[in-house]
Amino acid sequence: MNITIVKGRLEEQKADLLVVNEFSGVEKTGGATGSVNKALGGLLEKLMKEEQFNGGQRETLLVRTGGVIPGSRVLLVGLGERKDFSLETVREVSAAAYNTAKKLGARRVVSILHGAGAGKLSALLCAKAQTEGVRLAEYEFVKRKKAPEKKTPKVESWTIVSSDAAHVRAGARGVGEGELSAEGTIFARDLVNEPAGQMTPRHLALAAQNIAKVSKGAVRIKVFEAGQIEKMGMGGVAGVGQGSVHPPYFVHLIYKPRGAKKTVAVVGKGITFDSGGLSLKPADYMMTMKCDMAGAAAVLGLFSVLTRVAPKVTVHGIFGACENMPSGNAIRPGDVLKALNGKTMEVLNTDAEGRLTLADSLSYASKLKPDALVDLATLTGACMAALGEEITGVMGNDHKLTGAILQAAAAAGEKMWELPLEKRYKDLIKSEIADVKNIGGKYGGAITAGLFLQEFVDAEIPWVHLDIAGPAFAERPVNAYTRYGGTGAGVTTLIEFLKK
Ligand code: BES
Ligand code: ZN
Ligand code: ZN
Repeated sequence: MNITIVKGRLEEQKADLLVVNEFSGVEKTGGATGSVNKALGGLLEKLMKEEQFNGGQRETLLVRTGGVIPGSRVLLVGLGERKDFSLETVREVSAAAYNTAKKLGARRVVSILHGAGAGKLSALLCAKAQTEGVRLAEYEFVKRKKAPEKKTPKVESWTIVSSDAAHVRAGARGVGEGELSAEGTIFARDLVNEPAGQMTPRHLALAAQNIAKVSKGAVRIKVFEAGQIEKMGMGGVAGVGQGSVHPPYFVHLIYKPRGAKKTVAVVGKGITFDSGGLSLKPADYMMTMKCDMAGAAAVLGLFSVLTRVAPKVTVHGIFGACENMPSGNAIRPGDVLKALNGKTMEVLNTDAEGRLTLADSLSYASKLKPDALVDLATLTGACMAALGEEITGVMGNDHKLTGAILQAAAAAGEKMWELPLEKRYKDLIKSEIADVKNIGGKYGGAITAGLFLQEFVDAEIPWVHLDIAGPAFAERPVNAYTRYGGTGAGVTTLIEFLKK
């Protein structure tokens, strides 16, 4: 599907579907919607009344034009209450319109630029949000499904039309930006959705290598194999990886544009499958655990578009890739591992494996002395208990950085909420025989996990930890553009953060 924005009038466009909108409680249509209504001799407003269309979000009205205008059908989508209107509404209604267009078998869709008229939002951001909504709604992971017998036609083109030349100019940039954030997100979704039998640590490392390869030198890469990981002293990655027949890898991607003054390191949790290890998970909890590399996938999603986003900062992408398996060679409860920074970790539960590998990744990243260090990890069920399935838990050692991440998340339309790194809870991860133990008490598991990670970050480096255990994988549809499976959580926030 091609997404473009052009100057013109909706009522003059040839299309299988024209998408227009209206706020809640409006009886007299205005703007582009009003023009379409006028061209239809008032049919739209008449049907709104007859069908009791109220403009609520998710309300739609489908109208056949009967050849009065070149577009054969009009889809009126509700924007909800004006006071609740935001770019997220634009993303949602655009995605919902795409889903309807697909169901109808519409090949050529022409849409209003939702939000830039009566919505009063910036045309650039509206075009970006519409592009994201449509692209992400288009996404599906069906490569292992038998080809459907009856193929419904694909939506071939999505044209945003505005009569305002300035909106079209700004909108064109917005479409470009939306394409990039959606592409990075989809890259991450694909990696997460791939079954763990295919997406082994080696495959995750290969995905990174491929990004470097196609970048033609703009992204460099270092890949460390099991032997080197051990030799370098990365006992966390080596330990967690030792139970699997698929050996671990450690990956370091480097994007260093000319003239870059600041450096950002982005670390991801890359457990390609989390069985729990010898502290084996119950069957129900294991079903979605191919998603446990979603942090690394977000790093790779970012790097897949980074040279085109082209921020003027150096970016390091870092992850350890391991499969957490029980076996005769697996780490045992009670084992002690030594991380890259020399600190020892008592493994009391082999299912708290993410923090063991992140200990090495964060130590490694600290050595690069970045101006900001961000990690993303599907780290704790406790974070899901605290914030639910849709909200990322944010913890950090620097208010400015945490604020910047929360701001970027808001701009990206990703839901995040800060949790405190309460110092007094450090007692809960004190070990009798090592520097730290990998489990806390009964309560506050997201925070004790965050405190554990903090042990491996140099105190003077601004650091923020994103626990994406909830949002990384959708066990049921979340909204019109996030269906079952990997969501690509974090990618858009990272892009927004680096742009600023
Ligand atoms: N990968 C899991 C956390 C997780 C749970 C991610 C649900 C996504 C969805 C992590 O490795 C884990 O098992 N954490 C344990 C820690 C506990 C043993 C201290 C947990 O949260 O139960
Ligand atoms: Zn685990
Ligand atoms: Zn895990």
